Amino acid sequence: MRNLSTLGQLESKRVLLRCDLNVPIDNGVISDDGRIRASLPTIKYLIDQGAKVIICSHLGRPDGARVEKYSLRQIAKRLSELLDQPVSFSKDCVGREASNQVSILENKDVLLLENLRFHAAETSDSETERHDFAADLAELADVYVGDGFGVLHRKQASVYEIASLLPAAAGYLVEKELSVLEQLVRSDSHPYTVVLGGSKVSDKLGVISALLPRVDNLLIGGGMVFTFLAALGHKVGKSLLEESQIDTVKGYLEQAKSLGVNIVLPTDIVMASTFSADAEHLEAQVDELEQTSFGASGIGLDIGPVSAGVFADIISTSKLCFWNGPMGVFEFASFSKGTRSVAEALTKVQGLGVVGGGDSAAAVRALGFEDRAFGHISTGGGASLEYLEGKSLPGLEVLA
Ligand code: 3PG
Repeated sequence: MRNLSTLGQLESKRVLLRCDLNVPIDNGVISDDGRIRASLPTIKYLIDQGAKVIICSHLGRPDGARVEKYSLRQIAKRLSELLDQPVSFSKDCVGREASNQVSILENKDVLLLENLRFHAAETSDSETERHDFAADLAELADVYVGDGFGVLHRKQASVYEIASLLPAAAGYLVEKELSVLEQLVRSDSHPYTVVLGGSKVSDKLGVISALLPRVDNLLIGGGMVFTFLAALGHKVGKSLLEESQIDTVKGYLEQAKSLGVNIVLPTDIVMASTFSADAEHLEAQVDELEQTSFGASGIGLDIGPVSAGVFADIISTSKLCFWNGPMGVFEFASFSKGTRSVAEALTKVQGLGVVGGGDSAAAVRALGFEDRAFGHISTGGGASLEYLEGKSLPGLEVLA
């Protein structure tokens, strides 16, 4: 992979930097600025080199329309605070407005362009449309740096086509993420534990197949666990269930047995009367989920305390651990304990403990954990899973 040093002297050069600044925003407030902070090392390097730094990113999925709540203007303010220098903003990412803003940049200045996805061509299925849009972006700059790790799995104009139109290299965040993921794919450290949660088992099939032959322990929680429990014949009430995946899951259980992998499912579940923060709730054994006072209408919203303890013991005595997906509905305090136990145990891993991106990264920050407590918190949910599945990421291919 081409790294920043391959770009040579950057003083006075206009550098188009693709970041993933797609951060969660609640009522106009950035609730987790992790992706902005993770982008800082490359931005600071470019500033130190005396470049004119032109940052582009997407935010949300506005589908080609100008949707105010997805404007990157709100990100410019936070970026400026973190960099401790002004960050100018262009109301469009291409065209006259953008080129005017670029033309007044001095060395070491930082400009943030408006959301790339306000233009349908950024995510178009048509290669020609993407190419033409990438060419408009390329006019703004002399070189391109790809550092949006979370979007490398997308074949989109600012990630893929652009890298063939300008001298291009990967930034520090992409380098760092890959070095961690490589360890998860190649390291011989044992015990190696993978913890998977989140709502859908169908999102995790690829990663289960790819990692089963490498790991010692596979712990399953979150909404996806109910498909595993159903595969073992348990009744799960109104909990999340993907019936179409039951046979696939049975196959994984058998494969795990033949590989000698310890698949650990919870033995107790926190069942709730409804899906709400203040729902009535109680703990039940997995073979009695429909025998609580909620009957068959109970919903499982977290792993139970006994299981949380078992998971924590396995995780904290591992040498390598990767965790993707919350154990329960961590956004509701009553159903956040399983996720908290897993996060806490991951801080104690005696080797490398990695938090996958997306919801698990949001969960550890929402639960008050410091980033530095973990070996690594990935900025890419989908991107890191696809990498671990062994898929080729378009945004990486073009920087090879
Ligand atoms: C993410 O949040 O995973 C990345 O920013 C990619 O966003 P997308 O799934 O909307 O392409």
